[in-house]
Amino acid sequence: MLFPDRVLSGMRPTGALHIGHYHGALKNWVKLQEEHPCFFFVADWHALTTHYETPEVLEASVWDMLVDWFAAGIDPQKSTVFLQSRVPEHAELFLLLSMATPLGWLERVPTYKDQIEKLKDRDLATYGFLGYPLMQAADILIYRASMVPVGEDQVPHIEMTREIARRFNHLFGREPGFEEKAQAAVKKLGGKAGKQFMEARTKWQQDGDAAARDAGRALVAAASVPQEDRERLIGYLEGGTRSVLAEPAAKLTETPKLPGLDGQKMSKSYGNAVLMREEPKVLTEKIRRMTTDPARVRRSDPGEPERCPVWQLHKVYSDEATRDWVVKGCRSAGIGCLECKQPLIDAMLREQQGWRERAQPYLDDPAMLRAIVADGCDRARKAAQETMHDVRDVMGLNYT
Ligand code: TRP
Ligand code: SF4
Repeated sequence: MLFPDRVLSGMRPTGALHIGHYHGALKNWVKLQEEHPCFFFVADWHALTTHYETPEVLEASVWDMLVDWFAAGIDPQKSTVFLQSRVPEHAELFLLLSMATPLGWLERVPTYKDQIEKLKDRDLATYGFLGYPLMQAADILIYRASMVPVGEDQVPHIEMTREIARRFNHLFGREPGFEEKAQAAVKKLGGKAGKQFMEARTKWQQDGDAAARDAGRALVAAASVPQEDRERLIGYLEGGTRSVLAEPAAKLTETPKLPGLDGQKMSKSYGNAVLMREEPKVLTEKIRRMTTDPARVRRSDPGEPERCPVWQLHKVYSDEATRDWVVKGCRSAGIGCLECKQPLIDAMLREQQGWRERAQPYLDDPAMLRAIVADGCDRARKAAQETMHDVRDVMGLNYT
């Protein structure tokens, strides 16, 4: 199967987003939508794996977060934006994949034990919590995504998704009568090309000769045969299976480490976050109170930017001249911390102004926001249904 170029990523609904979400994920999504067809979704079922006791917060969290996606520049003309729970095919694939997923694969996911430890206040000895990386695999595989932009913590999930796809293709990738159909397709290549194809296949499968495999692929690409035969030939060449599910690649987002106001990781639950759309007065006040180099107690003490979380923000927000001014002024005690923070505050206010302007039409017209997302859900469902048709087919479920 020749799979489309397609980016997919999702976020749990956490309500209004903070600047760490923007610089760690959204900014990258906005860039990717210029380069690839993109699907971005709100992982609302995922939220329930940990917050099943408070489902009432879901609705507002979903819409607040979506406003920030569009504020950041996600363009519904370019990207398909949708809600996981409005595409119930995710659940069907999750179920079908669960049949053949070894429990050990889920228990070994590093976030599993970590999270249970971290979220001790909640009862996470649930089936849903153990299974959520498999749900994530279904989210990805159902769109046959080629690329999944994620942060580092999610990479093991993408790795497991690849294993799930491989296992699925191995178990179910053979259509009935594959061998005969593949041989008939080789005949259609014509005598000479057919012979070259079979030689290439042998060299690849017996000697692992990648150049021969590439030559075989080129023969298939050049042949004028129907699409199904093309897929069979590629499967026959590369190992005798038809790929029903695509193995995605993780695309690690290089994330600037954006510290929170206290220097710890920025998180709404730690109360140290700067939201994407903060009241200008509140933003100014938050930065003015932000932790600095702890060794710089008095204005006359020299400081060290590397020990100061404010400096981490300058790295994201300030130009070179300003950064030079900070480093020199800090180390020589030439500038005070409030003085140092001012250009940062100005840059952040400018950035937020753009977000605020883009968010306004969505805030003024919630029905428009819902219509855009409903349209995204329709498009996503179509793509998901195509995959499910093939999945049901190879799993023997399309019987009458
Ligand atoms: N698990 C991801 C997170 O917690 C969210 C997510 C769910 C996701 N499904 C996905 C991300 C599919 C990428 C692809 O951040
Ligand atoms: Fe941090 Fe700037 Fe103060 Fe130095 S001058 S400690 S970089 S806030």
